[in-house]
Amino acid sequence: MEKTVSFITQNFGKYDPTSIDSYLDIGGFSGLKKALGMSSDGIIELVRSTGMKGRGGAAYDTGRKWSQAASVKGDKKVVICNADEGEPCTFKDRAIMENDPFALIEGILIAGYTVGAQDGYIYIREEYRHLQKIVSAAVKQAKDRGYLGQNILGTGFNFEIHMYSGAGAYVCGEGSTLIESIEGKSGRPRIKPPFIKECGLFQRPTLVNNVETLVVATMVLTHGVEGYVCHGTERSIGTKLISLAGNVNKPGSYEIPFGLTLREIIYDIGGGIPQGHELQFFQLGGASGSIGSASLVDTPYTYEDLSKVGLTVGSGGILVVDDRTRVIDFVQSIQDFFIHESCGKCTPCREGNRQIDKIIGRFVVGAPRPDDLQTAERFANIMSNCAFCGLGETAQSVLLSAIRQFPEAFEVQGR
Ligand SMILES: Cc1cc2nc3c(=O)[nH]c(=O)nc-3n(C[C@H](O)[C@H](O)[C@H](O)COP(=O)(O)O)c2cc1C
Ligand code: SF4
Repeated sequence: MEKTVSFITQNFGKYDPTSIDSYLDIGGFSGLKKALGMSSDGIIELVRSTGMKGRGGAAYDTGRKWSQAASVKGDKKVVICNADEGEPCTFKDRAIMENDPFALIEGILIAGYTVGAQDGYIYIREEYRHLQKIVSAAVKQAKDRGYLGQNILGTGFNFEIHMYSGAGAYVCGEGSTLIESIEGKSGRPRIKPPFIKECGLFQRPTLVNNVETLVVATMVLTHGVEGYVCHGTERSIGTKLISLAGNVNKPGSYEIPFGLTLREIIYDIGGGIPQGHELQFFQLGGASGSIGSASLVDTPYTYEDLSKVGLTVGSGGILVVDDRTRVIDFVQSIQDFFIHESCGKCTPCREGNRQIDKIIGRFVVGAPRPDDLQTAERFANIMSNCAFCGLGETAQSVLLSAIRQFPEAFEVQGR
């Protein structure tokens, strides 16, 4: 099996991302042209046939999402491209926007046409200022050349793209929070129902998709499904853009076929652990993902195999940690992140994170109280079950997986 592939990334380095002419020279916008000649149902069927799951972290079936968005009644639908990419150790959407901004615009147009939307919004995180410039310039050129606006390519399809950015809050990557942020409100999630597919941005039916999801759609429309479905496994079809970081010799964003083992990713692609150190654990899917000890390094990177060992693909982040870091210190650093990023709307997350942090702090200095571990687990379980949004529900994945896999990190000598 090939270690790295290029289906999603096949345009990288092939054209000048600042020039629409350069994009057109390599066949740019032919996916859109093909889509505009198809029915909405036909496009949804094509997307369904890839078995693609959303790349923002929740792995929701994309064909199903598009089908639901298309069937919602409403003549003022919206497509939002979630380019917040606030998940620590995740930088694959950045790679796409840096190298292939026009394929992203094309994907938003294809999604918009498919679900019957008139407006697209690209929400790029505050810290990606350089990308805001690149993507805005691409949107302007697309508009100047008739790929955005009224009667696109003479088909009667009207679509505009608007650019937005938040103020750097992690929770604003959550769909409903992102919508609040675009509407000018503070970044806190909405109660559901109503679901955003029916009542989202400015009360309009809204489809939210991740950058990578939309670009996979562009590539599938442009090049056909065969080049995608020939990769991967039976249940995890195709390829995935990962962000490999931490204690590896060659960190970076790589496109891989589903089914490689974590060992192949860390050692063959990432060049192994630096300076002769040993792999201790890895964290998959960003700060909200669980950790896996080195004993799991032969697990195939597929939705189903990772799930069997308590791990997830999530955002596609793979953070490698060697034997120089104490597990408990790592858990504390993640805990600090969640205290900082909790929006404060609900008690389980706002207070739970702080209380757990105090407990972890006592483990860090080797002075826990006798019932600290049980209390931390109880709070973590309450958060998973009662927090208002995905941030609080998943904030304790690291703690709980560390307790499971590294019980010795929570023991005190002599106790
Ligand atoms: C706290 C939190 C942060 C999130 N951050 C992002 C993000 O930065 N980018 C993203 O695409 N999805 C993010 N998501 C997931 C989105 O809510 C949503 O599921 C996703 O954008 C849908 O796109 P997809 O179906 O293409 O994956 C986040 C979810 C939560 C709970
Ligand atoms: S779980 Fe609650 S406090 Fe935490 S980010 Fe979500 S709404 Fe805010």
